[in-house]
Amino acid sequence: TGSIDGCPMGHSGGVRSLLGRTNRDWWPEMLATEILNPNGPSNPLGEDFDYAEAFNALDYKALKADLTALMTDSQPWWPADYGHYGPFFIRMAWHAAGTYRTADGRGGANSGQQRFAPLDSWPDNGNLDKARRLLWPIKQKYGKNISWADLFILTGNVAIESMGGPVFGFGGGRPDVFEPERDIYWGSEDKWVNEGVQTRIDPEKELHEIEGPLAAIQMGLIYVNPEGPGGNPDPLQSARDIKETFHRMAMNHEETVALTAGGHTFGKAHGNGDASLLGAAPAGGDLAAQGFGWVSSHESGGIGQHAVTSGIEGSWVNTPTQWSENYFRLLLDYDYELVRSPAGAQQWQPVNQKPEDMAPAAWDPNIKVPTMMTTADMALKIDPEFRAISEKFRNDHEAFKDAFARAWFKLTHRDMGPKARYLGPEVPAEDLIWQDPVPAGSRPSDVEIRAVKEKIAASGLTVSQLIKTAWASASTYRKSDFRGGANGARVRLAPQKDWEVNEPEMLAKVLGTLDSLRGSLSMADAIVLGGVVGLEKAISDAGSSVEVPFTGGRGDATAEQTDVESFEVMEPQADAFRNYLPKRLAVKTEEMMIDRASLLGLSVPEMTVLIGGLRVLGANHGERGHGHFTKRSGQLTNDFFVNLLDMTNVWKAVDGSNDEEYVATDRAGGHETWRATRADLVFGSNSELRAVAEVYAEKGGQEKFVKDFVKAWTKVMNAGRFD
Ligand code: HEM
Repeated sequence: TGSIDGCPMGHSGGVRSLLGRTNRDWWPEMLATEILNPNGPSNPLGEDFDYAEAFNALDYKALKADLTALMTDSQPWWPADYGHYGPFFIRMAWHAAGTYRTADGRGGANSGQQRFAPLDSWPDNGNLDKARRLLWPIKQKYGKNISWADLFILTGNVAIESMGGPVFGFGGGRPDVFEPERDIYWGSEDKWVNEGVQTRIDPEKELHEIEGPLAAIQMGLIYVNPEGPGGNPDPLQSARDIKETFHRMAMNHEETVALTAGGHTFGKAHGNGDASLLGAAPAGGDLAAQGFGWVSSHESGGIGQHAVTSGIEGSWVNTPTQWSENYFRLLLDYDYELVRSPAGAQQWQPVNQKPEDMAPAAWDPNIKVPTMMTTADMALKIDPEFRAISEKFRNDHEAFKDAFARAWFKLTHRDMGPKARYLGPEVPAEDLIWQDPVPAGSRPSDVEIRAVKEKIAASGLTVSQLIKTAWASASTYRKSDFRGGANGARVRLAPQKDWEVNEPEMLAKVLGTLDSLRGSLSMADAIVLGGVVGLEKAISDAGSSVEVPFTGGRGDATAEQTDVESFEVMEPQADAFRNYLPKRLAVKTEEMMIDRASLLGLSVPEMTVLIGGLRVLGANHGERGHGHFTKRSGQLTNDFFVNLLDMTNVWKAVDGSNDEEYVATDRAGGHETWRATRADLVFGSNSELRAVAEVYAEKGGQEKFVKDFVKAWTKVMNAGRFD
């Protein structure tokens, strides 16, 4: 568990880069559009575009009716199996959502990433380019009122509904991005899953755990290899991989079985041909192919009857376009034997299948063909834990329906953050624990705020304590899945209150004092207000007078509203902002800093000003003096930058074996002046960070520094508020 750590110095042979293998590594000839966007991602809709407003103006009913009609509107260039696109669209939605991973909250459906490399070209997303193209007329018709990201998921829902399946609800509100997200580590391997065995769990090679924060078993897969680990058709080992990968996307065993069984109640796998005849994936495709990948030179262009996607061939059940009880029935009632598909993939076929249990051929209802199971499906039959759940669901269809509907809703909404972000008429009323519910707060009056501020100021709590506590509370926010942040005050609950990075003893003391002084304010507000008090004191002690804004109204979550396990993965294993690094990680300390800043949604100047300020305010973990380049501790000065850039200091590693700790001596006198970590010195060694540090150290820098610090600080304090 945990974020980047994984097995830090283990199997992958030591240090890795933050981003691993990127699009340009895969496709060196990719058009360099990013040079036109030096200030970050482009968005043709413009900064003023408000997606929530656009979505709320959508004719939702009409859109759903159009999607329902699309399900059976077969197109000659990609004919619908059984005359129904529903299963295909479910797979599209599942693969859009299924890249989500809990460790860093990245991936998932919430920005429409399936349209871009590398995801559009992952082997596991084979032929989903056709699904998106089938949707285009509807996207075109509704325009900016529905994002691609929302459309993928809503289409999955409509597909399930149109085949009689159970649906729990839909929340819109996933604004599109218009280029690949650049901040996601998808792995370091230089081969796709289908190009050789590089499985991330391999007991024979002692790879017992997937490298964090990844959640898929091989490069280019959403989860596991359907044919079994590394292509080995062993259902028990497949169960091990399924458990690990689904856990990393926040699913327990029951949810995992319900999802997979419910999904494979529909549709078919495609392998009635020769996979070697498939052309390049979309990102490497020919210009004339216009974004279509995997163009086949097979008979009939490799469509319909001759389509090859996974290489596995056949449907799971005899009724592939209708919700039914048939998946568990066929899985549990038949014995299965290992066979090969026409494309050569290993799959399982029922022994002595009765004609009435056979499936119609996708291209001709009058032809009967045997059903099949993948090795991953067989895991639900053979693994004892999965088997018990499969039997339970087989015997209680209502329980299965409910579990599938809820797990599908979770799968497709897990990365949307608080329910307050959900839009549209189909948002379920019920609060769900994985939404991290926070009760609504109330806005304190100015009079109340002033009174509490005075009490905190007189309480004896130090600037350092107030700043550390506010930072501990707010800095859990991650823009990837909108979790964490100061709202809810979960810093006072398990597990956060016990995290080493939060200095539990100090934290408990500060929280106790704030609790006794807060009057009618929520704890969440009192913690942030404490930061304001600390900051205003630090500013006035430094001889400046800048007001620190405060917006109250946060609520306090209870322990019952907090899923401890789901918060455990959010524990920082490094926090450059507090100079915290309990053990070395596989990713360089300064790259972990960039990662954290990215999750907080900070720009380079915002990250820089925050680090420089937090150091002089005494926000380091414990009593660490590293990077505390000031003789005026607790005052908000630009001393960090001035001293960092001062040529009087000569820096060297504390000892040769440790490049995490550095010491400065006075160039003339030779005596020790400062100590620092990599997260401090990188602001002097990296030319871009140094350029920003110079701005804060030069003439006029102090005023700018204070203003910018307050702005960036306030941004972090308000992150995660959608009220
Ligand atoms: C199709 C594997 C979980 C829904 C497929 C295919 C494979 C596969 C190999 C065939 C693709 C093709 O050749 O066209 C797996 C594995 C899973 C998994 C290994 C996890 C252990 C899920 C889940 C869902 C789902 C969780 C949805 C809730 C579907 C659907 C299809 C499909 C609807 C049919 C697509 C079509 O008819 O075109 N899956 N799947 N699968 N999967 Fe899964």
